Amino acid sequence: MRFAIVKNAKELAERAFLEIKKVLDEKSDAVIGFATGSTPIPLYDKMADDHKRNGTSYKDVRAFNLDEYVGVDPGDKASFARFMQDRLFSRIDIDPANTDIPNGMAEDLSAECERYSAAVKEHPADIQILGIGANGHIAFNEPYTKPEEPTHIALLTARTRADNAAAFKDPSLVPQYALTMGIDEILTAKRILLLAMGENKAQAIYDMVMGRDDTSCPAAALRRHPDVTVVLDREAAGLLTFGEWERAAEEREARQAAERAEEELEANESDEAADGETAEAAADEASEADEDAAEEDVDADGAESEDGEDGEEADTSEADDDEAENGEDAADEEADEQDDDADASEEK
Ligand code: F6R
Repeated sequence: MRFAIVKNAKELAERAFLEIKKVLDEKSDAVIGFATGSTPIPLYDKMADDHKRNGTSYKDVRAFNLDEYVGVDPGDKASFARFMQDRLFSRIDIDPANTDIPNGMAEDLSAECERYSAAVKEHPADIQILGIGANGHIAFNEPYTKPEEPTHIALLTARTRADNAAAFKDPSLVPQYALTMGIDEILTAKRILLLAMGENKAQAIYDMVMGRDDTSCPAAALRRHPDVTVVLDREAAGLLTFGEWERAAEEREARQAAERAEEELEANESDEAADGETAEAAADEASEADEDAAEEDVDADGAESEDGEDGEEADTSEADDDEAENGEDAADEEADEQDDDADASEEK
């Protein structure tokens, strides 16, 4: 899992767009898996803007969406089909015939799930865009969904319904059911791009990365995927202990530097030994000077190796102290910045 921490929605869109562009540059007829929700909106704006300015084309792209409410007409503003139409598809040159989303109005919902599952299997995504629910859901795979369950009818949790209420006139109108791509189906994508913003996603992001290895956080299944890019703002990344990871990386670098220094020392020693042999052969007559030289070598060697060891220890403990201080500084800075951010948003 790779992480990019961004400052705001604009940066999130730019960073995420790089991933999409990379895929399109490699393959103009790429299969892109799309998500709905508020988080990818800046990315879709960026894609539409880039299409207009730079002409990036989607005419051969095939699009699959993750999910759709049951019982909401595709023309209804609350439907995910309409969301995709308004937010992206009508603003780029994608062929409507190449877009697919589960049909939540299908008479036979199970047959619709089977159809969608087969379509996803036939066209695995080159890149799958994901958001994450505050409860860790991906698509509408709520906690404790079996990963192997293919596209299915999901019962939405009260929290998910509340979080998605904004699109409906009345929270009670949020459907109880949705059709959703399954977790293992999501994992068939070649690359995954997960986006999250805001403090209310921090716990879900923590659980995704560091939480229990079970199905309580569906997003934790992404740990099994070899190519996941996670783009987060600082608030969503708030519970991740990047400081610890940085410390581990610094310790690794210090260890590697010490190993390199030791190798250099050994190389110098063998050079010196070779020089010593030549000197010995050439200076048979000056035996006293040889003895002095030999003594100096021993002294020098002893001093060097001792210094080396002492130096390493000293460096490491100094580095530890520095890291601890840096850690505190970073924490202080972060706290200050958060205060500033809070002040700034309060000012607004
Ligand atoms: C939507 C979807 C959901 C959302 C998630 C986050 O297609 O699959 O999993 O990605 O609920 O939604 P937002 O971005 O609105 O916070």
